[in-house]
Amino acid sequence: MTDFKDKIDLNKLPQHIAIIMDGNGRWAKKRGKLRIFGHESGVKAVRETTEAAAELGVKFITLFAFSTENWDRPKFEIDALMQLLVNTISKETKTLNDNNIKLVAIGDLKSLPKDCYQNLNKSIENTAKNTRMTLVLALSYSSKWEIMEAVKRIAKKVKEEQILPENITQKDFSDYLPTSILGIPDPELLIRTSGEYRISNFLLWQIAYAELYFTPTLWPDFRKENLYEAIFNYQTRERRFGKTSEQIKQNSNEQI
Ligand code: FPP
Repeated sequence: MTDFKDKIDLNKLPQHIAIIMDGNGRWAKKRGKLRIFGHESGVKAVRETTEAAAELGVKFITLFAFSTENWDRPKFEIDALMQLLVNTISKETKTLNDNNIKLVAIGDLKSLPKDCYQNLNKSIENTAKNTRMTLVLALSYSSKWEIMEAVKRIAKKVKEEQILPENITQKDFSDYLPTSILGIPDPELLIRTSGEYRISNFLLWQIAYAELYFTPTLWPDFRKENLYEAIFNYQTRERRFGKTSEQIKQNSNEQI
């Protein structure tokens, strides 16, 4: 097995990695178990990924834990998943503090069950001073929802004549997104597990220039080595931001 960790250039790490954790249900089904068993097994992958990212020196990890659309799943699965989130967040708060990791959350958090919302806020407060890495949980999250919230707030500013429509810049717009409000830079790398090639309403604005990495590994099987492989793969890509390859090479030669 290739050891991707040794091949990673620590000077070229993505600052922010976003992950669509997918395949829990299929993982459980393959074992003849209920879908929730897959979600429970996914917690180990969350732990491994968070630990590996912090050890390397990645500054932000965003995990898509529950989408707005997930509310349409059977009530039994939603209740079990919410319970799992409440328990995991409470149980892992000490580990987050021991590792100097800050927890934050994005999404329509007020729509979460009361105990989930309260536990989440407790962990957020308890880890607020940590500085090594930020773990962002996307909960009851959808990118279109978040964009609409920003639009409504900007429209209100326009109505109150605090800003002229023609003066609204991209920066003004992103300042209204929770990621900017929380000081989270745009992700350079987006990983999706389980062999699906979709973005599923995740960070649509923020991933404008992210490198996309899709792996057939189901989320409960995702381990540190899988993260190392994704980062190594990211480092083999040329990020051009609309420029030509020659311009990018010239710029990096000038910097040496
Ligand atoms: C997608 O798999 C996964 C989810 C909707 C939930 C992910 C949640 C966890 C792994 C629990 C993590 C806990 C914390 C604290 C972040 P799926 O159910 O869509 O799988 P399928 O596509 O195979 O059906």
